[in-house]
Amino acid sequence: MAQVVVENVYKSYRGKADRTDRVDKSKKADIALSKDLSKDKSQPISVLRDINFTVEDGEFLVLVGPSGCGKSTLLRLLAGLEELTGGNIKIGDRTINNLPPKARDIAMVFQNYALYPHLNIYDNIAFGLRRNSGADSHKKVRSSWWESALTATTSYLPRSMRYMSAKEKQVRDRVRYVASLLQIEPLLARFPKELSGGQKQRVALGRAIARNPQVFLMDEPLSNLDAKLRTQTRAQIVQLQRQLKTTTVYVTHDQTEAMTMGDRIAVINNGQIQQIAPPLEIYERPANRFVAEFIGSPAMNFLPVNLGSSLKLVSPHFTLELPDTWAKSLEHSQAKSLVLGIRPQHFTIDRESESSIQIEIDLVEALGNETYISAHLIAQPDTILTVSLPPDQLVRIGDRLWLSINIDKIHLFTVDDGRAIAI
Ligand SMILES: Nc1ncnc2c1ncn2[C@@H]1O[C@H](COP(=O)(O)OP(=O)(O)OP(=O)(O)O)[C@@H](O)[C@H]1O
Ligand SMILES: [Mg+2]
Repeated sequence: MAQVVVENVYKSYRGKADRTDRVDKSKKADIALSKDLSKDKSQPISVLRDINFTVEDGEFLVLVGPSGCGKSTLLRLLAGLEELTGGNIKIGDRTINNLPPKARDIAMVFQNYALYPHLNIYDNIAFGLRRNSGADSHKKVRSSWWESALTATTSYLPRSMRYMSAKEKQVRDRVRYVASLLQIEPLLARFPKELSGGQKQRVALGRAIARNPQVFLMDEPLSNLDAKLRTQTRAQIVQLQRQLKTTTVYVTHDQTEAMTMGDRIAVINNGQIQQIAPPLEIYERPANRFVAEFIGSPAMNFLPVNLGSSLKLVSPHFTLELPDTWAKSLEHSQAKSLVLGIRPQHFTIDRESESSIQIEIDLVEALGNETYISAHLIAQPDTILTVSLPPDQLVRIGDRLWLSINIDKIHLFTVDDGRAIAI
């Protein structure tokens, strides 16, 4: 178990070259063509910039962000599967920048499980334990030459009659321990193709756990599962992590996973960290408009407003009076044009008034526990709001309603860079 420190990390790729390395010869002609077409092939592509964070010993950190923002790249840098362009990565007190993956004492779980199809589940889990190399070799017992010879000569006999070296006994105990932890004991003799997606996922987790690494790296490990299994496995991973207390970095683009699994969330966009904080802090005090929109479902609504005199937010369609708690930060920011952020849950159906907005409903989604409506402002039809209503509120497409805004739940952002104005 160890702390992970990421300092000033940068990653860029050398344009098209990196990608062509991995393509087979038959595609070379196509690539030559596309090379001619793209003039900027030598331009480096910057994927991660100025990444700094520390994952504390035993902590569960979730990296979340939209597709292509650089989450997997960051994880692969930690695992040693990619080379750093700049910066430092430390695990415990070792700088690991130049260590090969197997010397980093890290176990990675991939989205596509990556199980060995020709090995049964027992051997899939045992595989990493039998290799006597890398940083975790101190955790293993080595076999002598005669033990290896005995193992080889008896390997054709039924399992109960085979010779089992001290090392293999240790492997067996570890496989059994992990299998019981994940409740996959009945599957040990099967092959990967004989398992369901969820079972394969547990085996992939088991293989990572078996090695007892200092750090777990997980890259969207649940995205191939159906909704129910995803919820179950999500809880199981959280429970296991609490039990094993292994420092974990978990990548997802699913904000429910981010909110429910981690001790802290790091929100990434466009290769840069936008905010790192515990889930509820991210939800309640997003650092900028991107985080505010990305975390929370349905997404936050945004409306342009101006700051009038004596803490009044003025829009062409309504006027809101802000509580005094805003005074200092608004004075400090000096911005006069702002963006008002309001979550769908923070509107209430109300009477017509200076502070309420009139909408017309375009879409109703009754989920049973709440109802989402999509509506446009009557006074400005191209402004669309998403509103959450209690399930007993009967509404239909075309209905017109007046909504008031819960003033204690609003967020304000600057217009130019979208920074949040904090109270
Ligand atoms: N070998 C490479 N050469 C050039 N660009 C690359 C290479 N690998 C990844 N990229 C680019 O780096 C960016 C980040 O990719 P990455 O796989 O880290 O995204 P991600 O956040 O994991 O996205 P997703 O959620 O879709 O998995 C993408 O724009 C991708 O196209
Ligand atoms: Mg990815």
